[in-house]
Amino acid sequence: MNSAASLAREEIRQLKPCIHGGEVWNIIGKSVLDREDILDFSSNINPLGPSPKAIKAIRDNLGLIPSYPDPDSTALRDAIASSIKGISRENVICGNGSIELIYLFADVFMSKGDMALIPAPTFGEYEKAVRRTGARPKLVKLSTAFKVEPSLFTREMKSAKAVFLCNPNNPTGILTPQATIAEIIEEALSENVLVFLDEDFIEFVDEEKRFSFAAEIKRYPNLFVLRSFTKFFGLTGLRVGYGVADEEVIRVLSAAKAPWNVNCLAQVAAAAALQDMEHIRKSSRLTKRERKFLASELSRISVLKVYPADANFLFIDVRQSGLTAAQLKEKMLRYGVLIRDCTSFAGIDEYYIRVAVKTRRENEKMLQALKKALSK
Ligand SMILES: Cc1ncc(COP(=O)(O)O)c(C=O)c1O
Repeated sequence: MNSAASLAREEIRQLKPCIHGGEVWNIIGKSVLDREDILDFSSNINPLGPSPKAIKAIRDNLGLIPSYPDPDSTALRDAIASSIKGISRENVICGNGSIELIYLFADVFMSKGDMALIPAPTFGEYEKAVRRTGARPKLVKLSTAFKVEPSLFTREMKSAKAVFLCNPNNPTGILTPQATIAEIIEEALSENVLVFLDEDFIEFVDEEKRFSFAAEIKRYPNLFVLRSFTKFFGLTGLRVGYGVADEEVIRVLSAAKAPWNVNCLAQVAAAAALQDMEHIRKSSRLTKRERKFLASELSRISVLKVYPADANFLFIDVRQSGLTAAQLKEKMLRYGVLIRDCTSFAGIDEYYIRVAVKTRRENEKMLQALKKALSK
């Protein structure tokens, strides 16, 4: 037999893994640090963790484990639909993390010969999901201030099958105004192009600025809006996310998805989390206050350029420090703080880092570590 790897489809053989933050498991394997010794500022999760109501729902439903879960996450889809104006369960699909839906969307809609427009820099999995289908990603650079330039997308629209957007964007944390997103969706609609809009971080945006397109899917049959229970709701390890779109889009995606993709505990915990308004408000308040604190403290460090942020993380240019992001990450790890070196993101050089917004005590520890790392 030839090597098994040579039997894989060509586009699979050429895939490269996508690098992510939160690699604490990797680090504890290689260093003297224990899990509890590392403050993880590289992944952007609500520092308050999941809602106590979600944890209670898990405890109360452990008896479900010996049975298969609802293959279509019906009760959870109902709970999601009632949290978004004007939509019903038929407009919702749930996934094993929102990541499953990125791959499912690409698998269902893209194939060899197709092209997808993807901003740069942004979350790396869109590109990988597109490449995996044999289709071609075309990267569209953001402006020097990391803003989405709608004309750069609309001018390529005719030859595209789909456009991927992330709002607020990862790794920059910048929120694209609703008029810009609408302009791209409308141009896409007139050219029969799909828009995949990742709103995984939208719950962290201040209410007065927050504008989700999840309630706009009736206006835009070409739109798929992605959301997650990983970030704001802190159900990270349970793996649950969802997508909202026109019924027809949901129908084709649902026909292609694997059954039982969301486990029984994730389904009940996510539904309970959506209903815990107290935890939701507390998490929003904490993010708003700590993002402001962290941005202001970081801006006082003269060698750092801090970008304005709307999500729960800050994007920082460190070139004036004389260190690359990788060197700074390495130095900070000696003080037990893990930050995200953004070098792996397409479209930026090796001088950008990303840090999460956490509790005041954790943010102060990170600031101390950063100051020490920069001074030596
Ligand atoms: C922008 C963005 N989208 C999607 C995902 C996938 O998240 P999950 O599968 O945990 O919902 C991530 C994870 O980091 C992300 O940053």
